[in-house]
Amino acid sequence: MRAHPAGPLHGDGLPHTTLPPAPDTTAMARIDAQIWPATARRDPQGRLVVGGQPVTDLVARHGTPVLLLDEADFRARAAAFQAAYTDPDVPGLVSYAGKAFLSGTTVRWLAEAGLGLDVCTGGELGLAMAAGFPPERITLHGNNKSDAELRAALAAGVGRFVIDSLDEVDRLADLAASAGAVAHVLVRVTTGVEAHTHEFIATAHEDQKFGLSLTSGAAREAVLAVAARPSLALLGIHSHIGSQIFSTAGFEVAAHRVVQFIAELAGAEGLTMAELSLGGGMGIAYLPGDDPVAPVAMADALRVIVAGECQRRGLPVPRIGVEPGRAIVGPSMVTVYEVGTVKPVEYRTGAWRTYVSVDGGMSDNIRTALYDAEYTVVLANRVSSAPAMLTRIVGKHCESGDVVVRDAWLPSDVGRGDLLAVAATGAYCRAMASNYNMIARPPVVSVRAGNDQVVLRRETQADLLALDPALAGAGPTADHQGGVVGAGLP
Ligand code: LLP
Repeated sequence: MRAHPAGPLHGDGLPHTTLPPAPDTTAMARIDAQIWPATARRDPQGRLVVGGQPVTDLVARHGTPVLLLDEADFRARAAAFQAAYTDPDVPGLVSYAGKAFLSGTTVRWLAEAGLGLDVCTGGELGLAMAAGFPPERITLHGNNKSDAELRAALAAGVGRFVIDSLDEVDRLADLAASAGAVAHVLVRVTTGVEAHTHEFIATAHEDQKFGLSLTSGAAREAVLAVAARPSLALLGIHSHIGSQIFSTAGFEVAAHRVVQFIAELAGAEGLTMAELSLGGGMGIAYLPGDDPVAPVAMADALRVIVAGECQRRGLPVPRIGVEPGRAIVGPSMVTVYEVGTVKPVEYRTGAWRTYVSVDGGMSDNIRTALYDAEYTVVLANRVSSAPAMLTRIVGKHCESGDVVVRDAWLPSDVGRGDLLAVAATGAYCRAMASNYNMIARPPVVSVRAGNDQVVLRRETQADLLALDPALAGAGPTADHQGGVVGAGLP
């Protein structure tokens, strides 16, 4: 799998990749347990079933595109992280990274499972508070927190503030003092480690907006500034090294560097740290053969390095924090689309691929266009004995970079009205969805043991027009998004 540095990669400019060989019909229909949600399987009629229901039934009720959330899968992943970081000798703290996907329902599941929650804007904080999430288990991140956001977080009684700049130290200290509160803070440092998928570099260049550098002395300056302010209580140090990471090596190097920093502060300043957060970034399987590290293996590795290094230096062992987003919600959702236009295109002399257009696209999954992300897609309403055909799954937006799956083998009889399911779309798809081309964002429907529940309803054209004062109130008499879209929903 290619790494996906966040950047302005456009679908038109995606590098050419070598295609995997055409699979046989069994492989094309396979629901690989590593990639699909825990309850996903084919029923005897060949339909994809999630949470005990065929997607054909779910689509008949909720329309397409739709994100199906496997409740059992989500809860199991949250519980697995919580268990992996529950250790009598080295306590842990798992905070779900809300940016991957947030909703009132899932936030309540996380609260029930005992996890913490990482938010990075006032909007995410507002959702968490509206859902009744315990504020003392919330961590506020953000490289550019406004005074209003800091005030709201202080008023809510947020448990942790992650300081990301020197000016924030004074702003937070002043706001906390005037609110008569003490804010518990971690200082986010840059360790020079950057990791993506299989690769990590230990001497990453620090030319980016997050954190305070260990090498330049900015991190130390921030820690000392925090320690000097009575309205701030120094809890620890935070580091985040990247996303979609498959190996523990980058985390180990980062942990080593942070512990070294903690040791220097203990020696020179007599400061002790109760917490060391290593951030998020734990990878998931998007494609066959992707092999992420299990939470328990990652937790064991982190405990060995943090506890080992601290004990060797005579330091108290801090609580280890992690902030998985993708690794909890990513595999728990699939996106189901309906196929519309099917168009063979000769992309090189004598070489053909078939463009299969679906009824969503870059508005519900920007990751392919933005990061060159890769996904697994299957025909979901049936299996087929037709041979494999090279396809590109594209959306309905008005640009050629609107690609959902760049290269996919599908049965050659795929056609209008078929359903396609794309796996592992729980993280950063609905969360990064847009209304480009006035498309209403799709719903998220949770499924469990034969029951389904709307977690986020489908937007309607009326929702979109309501934002426009020139049109609000004029209201359409019909929802021009058409079809079963939004049928039966408020
Ligand atoms: N903690 C911090 C401080 C973070 O910045 C992030 C992600 C996380 C935790 C959660 O990372 P995760 O476990 O979900 O990888 N939109 C991109 C990913 C951006 C991640 C930004 N920060 C994508 O779609 O791949």
